[in-house]
Amino acid sequence: MKKILIVLGVCSVILACNSAEKSESTEDTTAAVEQVAVDTSAAPASAGSAKGEQLISGSDCLTCHKVDAKIVGPSYADVANKYEASEANIEMLAGKIINGGSGSWGEIPMAPHAALSTDDAKEMVKYILSLKTK
Ligand code: HEC
Repeated sequence: MKKILIVLGVCSVILACNSAEKSESTEDTTAAVEQVAVDTSAAPASAGSAKGEQLISGSDCLTCHKVDAKIVGPSYADVANKYEASEANIEMLAGKIINGGSGSWGEIPMAPHAALSTDDAKEMVKYILSLKTK
């Protein structure tokens, strides 16, 4: 009788381990599938802005801006939520990056980036405006 109990006990432990492993691996697969789904759906919107992201990491922008939190300047998500990604807005914001700007978000001005080309500044804006959260 005792033996049977022990055997049963061992079996249930093995079973428990097995099923835990199984459910974990299903979660992994679901997460992977979701990841792929997110990636493909994000691709068209951000396709033209990978360059902008690179330009931003290569410049001084990130000392004053974060994607999701205000530092000195507004978060890029806030900027994206405020402006529609229209050609006019892209030009206007590119101009602000190059010439500096103030008054849209508070009293602190943004320093000018006179060395940037209009094209590079526009790529940056396209990337920023792709970060909309609402
Ligand atoms: C010295 C700090 C600083 C740096 C460096 C900086 N910014 Fe800013 N940025 C600000 C501040 C402050 C504002 C808010 C200005 C305002 O209220 O109009 C701002 C605003 C912006 C806006 C919104 C403008 C508007 O009128 O709504 C964009 C877009 C932007 N920055 C992009 C950039 C990019 C791209 C870079 C790098 C090339 C950069 N910033 C570098 C401080 C900075």
